[in-house]
Parts: sequence; C-alpha cells; structure tokens
Amino acid sequence: MKMEPIETVEPVVRIQGLNKTYNGQKVLNGVDLCIGKAENVVVLGKSGSGKSTLIKCMVRLSEPDEGSISIMGKDIVKINYQELNALRVKIGFLFQNGALYDSMNVHDNLAFPLRHHRKHLGKEKLNAMISEVLENVGLPEAGNKMPAELSGGMSKRIGLARTLMLKPSLMLYDEPTSGLDTATSKEINQLILDMQRKYQISSLIITHDIACAKMTADRIVMLRDGAIVAAGTYDELNKSNDEWIKSFFN
Ligand SMILES: Nc1ncnc2c1ncn2[C@@H]1O[C@H](COP(=O)(O)OP(=O)(O)O)[C@@H](O)[C@H]1O
Ligand SMILES: [Mg+2]
Repeated sequence: MKMEPIETVEPVVRIQGLNKTYNGQKVLNGVDLCIGKAENVVVLGKSGSGKSTLIKCMVRLSEPDEGSISIMGKDIVKINYQELNALRVKIGFLFQNGALYDSMNVHDNLAFPLRHHRKHLGKEKLNAMISEVLENVGLPEAGNKMPAELSGGMSKRIGLARTLMLKPSLMLYDEPTSGLDTATSKEINQLILDMQRKYQISSLIITHDIACAKMTADRIVMLRDGAIVAAGTYDELNKSNDEWIKSFFN
C-alpha cells in the first residue's frame, strides 16, 4: 500500500541550495531551510557564521548568488519589484535596536508603516490598531512616550509592535535578545511565543543565545561557516556528542 505524503501543505518558507559569496569568502554555503505555518525555527550560530546574511537574502536586501528562496509560494529571486513589495508587507522584520524614529512619539512610530500601505484607514480604526498592538507587547500606556524615554527592552517591544501593525504572516528576528539582561530577554522570548500562538505567525529567529533558542524554538538549525551542520529540537541537539554542538549547550 502506498503511504500518503506527510507534508502536503507548502511551507511558508522554502530555501534550497542558497549560496552567497562576499569578496571571495563563502558566507552561505548550500543552505536548505523550510519553515511551516506557525512554526518557530531558530538559526543558531556564532558571530560571523552568516545568520544576518541569510535574513537579508530572504528580503532581498542582499542578492543571493545561487539557490532559490520561496516565501508564501513566491520565488523571491524571480519576482518583480512590485510583487516583492507586496510580499515584504507580509514579512515583519525586528532589527537589533527596534529602529524607531527618534523624533516621533511611540504612537506616530506605530502609525508610520501604515501611511504607505493602508492609506484609507480612518483615524478611529488606526487608533484601535495601535491600542491592540501596544496591548500585545504589554505597554498599553506607552503611546505618548518618546523613543529616548524607552529602555532597551521597551524599544524592542515597540519595534515588534510596529511590525505587528502590518499583520505579518512571517517574522524575521535578528538577535532579538542581544544587549538585554536575562529577565528582559525572557520577556521578549515570551512575546515571540505569544505572537506565534495568537496570530499563527511563522518565525525565523536568528541568535547565538541558547536560552532564546530553548524558549522559542520548535526546531533549531545550526549554522557553521555558512553551512547547516545539524538540526533538531532543543532536546535532540542537547544530547549530541559533537564537541562543536556541545559548546552551545552549556
Ligand atoms: N555587505 C557585506 N560585505 C562584505 N562582507 C560581508 C557583508 N555582510 C556580511 N559580510 C561578511 O559575511 C560574514 C557573515 O556575516 P553575517 O551574516 O553578518 O554573520 P552573523 O550575522 O552570523 O554574525 C562575515 O564574515 C561578514 O564580515
Ligand atoms: Mg548578525
């Protein structure tokens, strides 16, 4: 009897054979990676292993040399500029420092991404959305604050709130806990989980922080010098006898 294939739904992200070279140095070397609907995949690797380059290729901030990147069924290397922009709206990107505009208060920072994408939204609807995302990140009263008044953890939360304004299907987190103390890191990790559960968001979380990987990952992929050398759940990888893998887990 023939078995039904287990995976019948196209994953949200499918990367195959991704190569990228900078100045003769192979930064990504044959990367294959899939992310399913509402799945959190962590890419764990040391500094300089190619993690940020991987994210940049996924939104075409960097051009891959070879390979294919399909996101929500679209081959992002082949689509035209208009299609790329339409796709980018569905992809949330949390930068290392939240990337807020210093001259605007939190409310205006949150309204900003919608200026281009949802021009016809009324003021009431906009305010309701801002209240909802501030509630989501646990800062319901922060609308009138200026970015300079926010702590590192709060800036990250507002940065996340801003990307949530566009209701992304896929979130890309580049080192979400870098520069944060342990307690604040935990809060950000919890938010990543909350957003996955509440909105069925798929996430790629790039980190060298094992505590972040442990808390957020459904699956961990280990990147070493641009190549994927291991993959599995936290518990599976934690049992590995490989010295290099073990160096992350203690
Ligand atoms: N725009 C660029 N031009 C030249 N080299 C780059 C560029 N971006 C990254 N690199 C190099 O690629 C390697 C991987 O970088 P990156 O993807 O930022 O790693 P990670 O995020 O894992 O720390 C590093 O050696 C870095 O110096
Ligand atoms: Mg990086």
